[in-house]
Amino acid sequence: MTASSRFALAHFSDLHMPTRGIVAPRHWTVKRSLGYINWQSGRKRSFDTSAVDLLVADMRKRSPDHIAVTGDLVNFGLPSELESAARWLEALGPEDLVSVVPGNHDIYVPLRRDPGVARWIGYMRSDDYGLTIPDADNAFPSAGADVRSAFPYVRRFGKIALIGVNSSLPMPPFIAAGELGQAQLHRLETVLSATGKDGLCRVLMIHHPPLASLASRRRGLRDGQALAGVLKRSGAELILHGHNHTNTLAAAEGPDRPIPIVGIAAGGMIKNRKHPDQLGRYNLIEIMDAGLPSCQLKMTGYGLQTLNGPIVEVQHCNLAGADVNLGAIAGA
Ligand SMILES: [Fe+2]
Ligand SMILES: [Fe+2]
Repeated sequence: MTASSRFALAHFSDLHMPTRGIVAPRHWTVKRSLGYINWQSGRKRSFDTSAVDLLVADMRKRSPDHIAVTGDLVNFGLPSELESAARWLEALGPEDLVSVVPGNHDIYVPLRRDPGVARWIGYMRSDDYGLTIPDADNAFPSAGADVRSAFPYVRRFGKIALIGVNSSLPMPPFIAAGELGQAQLHRLETVLSATGKDGLCRVLMIHHPPLASLASRRRGLRDGQALAGVLKRSGAELILHGHNHTNTLAAAEGPDRPIPIVGIAAGGMIKNRKHPDQLGRYNLIEIMDAGLPSCQLKMTGYGLQTLNGPIVEVQHCNLAGADVNLGAIAGA
């Protein structure tokens, strides 16, 4: 990519692909059983792969340069679900075209000997550029271990650095909170500094809303305040997240200017009781003249307005300057 070219990044999140088949008795934990009751009693009627299929077909027509998926591909972190999601990712695109970070529903309970989200490793690892940054050269741990040690990863596309962190780890029933942990935060800070020194436009992918103020303690990022400190010191140009299942624009404080934060509605959502107008959607983010200090960002949202489509343009805005006010949260 040249300095004056356009890079188009498609963003999906929270597909929550329906769970199929019989669940083996050994997988029935208390948390999964409670989650399954919640799913059967209503949530399953809010999600459908038909929405995801429509969004993906529409996105393909726009030929994005890369696709970012910010977690919650599945519902209960079951091995069979994670396998199905791996097949879905393969159909979506090759490993160098798609980048993923896990959500709390992907890492739902401890899995012990099962590889878990390591099935998606090809979509969650540094490229040759990332491997030159010691804190982005992280191996996936053995099965059952905390996979946060494998993050962040970094992928470079011309003057853009895509950085993935993992905020998800098993939590008790009724808790959907996340946490990056001190070690990952430390690695992230050095990664943001290194990519910033290289003059790259840094796009950070995270499942949970990055600031403590963007979700309740039961659902939010527990070390959001520490992340805010990292962002204030080291900066980033854009943050993409999911988890809240709503379209939001907010901003974090950076060293020189606000950092836009984009939250997106659930990709698989066909019915939304709380926000009926927010159904399945993807965003196409155009990054122009990428590279610091100039990094122009425009976002267009495409989504469902009715159950069966069609997919239409639902939002268009600039993500730098006047459209992003520090601390503002606007439903869109
Ligand atoms: Fe979700
Ligand atoms: Fe989530």
